[in-house]
Amino acid sequence: MFGLIILLIDNKNNIYYNSERALGCIYKLTLKGLHMFLSNLSEDQKMIHKLISDFSENEIKPVASENERNSRFPAELIKKLGELGFMGHFVPTEYGGCGLDYLSYIIAIEEISKACASTGIIVSAHNSLTCSPIIDFGTDGQKEKYLPDLSCGKKLGCFALSEPEAGSDAASIKTTAVKEGKHYIINGLKSWITNGSEADIAIVFVSTDRKLKSRGITAFIVDLDSPGIEIGKSEHKLGIKASSTTQTIFDNCKIPAENLLGSEGEGFKIAMKTLDGGRIGVAAQAVGIARAALEASVIYAKERKAFGDSISNFQGIQFMIADMSTRVEAARLLTWQAASLLNKGLKYTKQSAMAKLFAAETAMWVTTKAIQIHGGNGYTTDFPVERYFRDAKITEIYEGTSEIQRIVIAKQTLSEF
Ligand code: CAA
Repeated sequence: MFGLIILLIDNKNNIYYNSERALGCIYKLTLKGLHMFLSNLSEDQKMIHKLISDFSENEIKPVASENERNSRFPAELIKKLGELGFMGHFVPTEYGGCGLDYLSYIIAIEEISKACASTGIIVSAHNSLTCSPIIDFGTDGQKEKYLPDLSCGKKLGCFALSEPEAGSDAASIKTTAVKEGKHYIINGLKSWITNGSEADIAIVFVSTDRKLKSRGITAFIVDLDSPGIEIGKSEHKLGIKASSTTQTIFDNCKIPAENLLGSEGEGFKIAMKTLDGGRIGVAAQAVGIARAALEASVIYAKERKAFGDSISNFQGIQFMIADMSTRVEAARLLTWQAASLLNKGLKYTKQSAMAKLFAAETAMWVTTKAIQIHGGNGYTTDFPVERYFRDAKITEIYEGTSEIQRIVIAKQTLSEF
């Protein structure tokens, strides 16, 4: 946690820190790029940016490609991120978290994802989709029981809403929970669960009254070592291969009634509110991927020679770089705007959907151009842009497809006038 870190700032604005776990190990942090954006941040937010950008560059990026190639879950990195406080970023300090704001969290997800999109979604699903609904809807007892271990990364969280036949149409889930005395019995199959095989705790959405559709959906906090739970199929994906995506099977799984999150029938609203926040995290992930692709393209274009000149001197390449750079900054502004509204307690459903839609499509567009700039080299695993391209695609799909974001934006906009 941040409380366990000693920070030293020298007169050149370099930060040196050591964590309790690695006493004696000092990291030098340098502020990299994006000065205009950073100048608008508070001192705390700037400090978090420096800390996480240095950690991402020095510890996450060097292993990203190999972890992804081998579909290897980055357990050691998640442990370190837990020690640094990034697994309980906005969890209140009384529950062992850092009590920080959502914008600094978004900054962290962007930096982590720039180095490794898989690590980005592992951290994002844990913070936005697991810690967040417990903070917003949990009882004091649930917060005391679950948040401390989640905040330090000792336990990992996941979010089980989708099912094989209920993805975009989340209200039509078939998994059921029936009350029996002081317990609920859950039966059904959940799918597309980020962190599925690694998680200890899940926020699970079930139907307690199918006739009521969305108003019959109920949320539970579920310990995944409970009897009657089995991890099902593990997905072989196009990208973000270092993150786990699985099904989870509930077969007469008995859950204490005190694990009900919110009240019976409140689950759909809990899911939607949680996804409003989660989508800003995915937008930040997309911005991080797009920035990585832009940076790689600029470096490559300056080094690569053709027709006796650096290709960065050709207007065809310059126009691509200009458009990539413009779209990345626009995506980032939308993302930070949504996070700022959330911080201020204002409505942000529309802005969150806009940020996710635009940032995801930007990531896809920018990574496509990045491969084009790299030519044949970009199509090989010798350069990282093919990984960025594969990773970018999922941001247009999970936590609500781009089509679902357009539905949300249209609905909100039509109700404004
Ligand atoms: N906040 C709070 N309440 C909301 C809400 C929001 N953002 N959006 C809707 N609601 C409420 C409505 O007010 C309505 O309330 P009442 O019953 O009181 O009237 C209720 O929820 C139902 O709303 P709708 O009629 O709009 O619901 P719908 O069935 O038409 O669905 C939808 C709307 C936007 C399409 C929604 O189903 C949706 O977001 N679908 C996508 C689901 C999704 O993102 N899935 C991804 C799962 S997570 C994942 O990807 C895996 C992972 O691990 C990363």
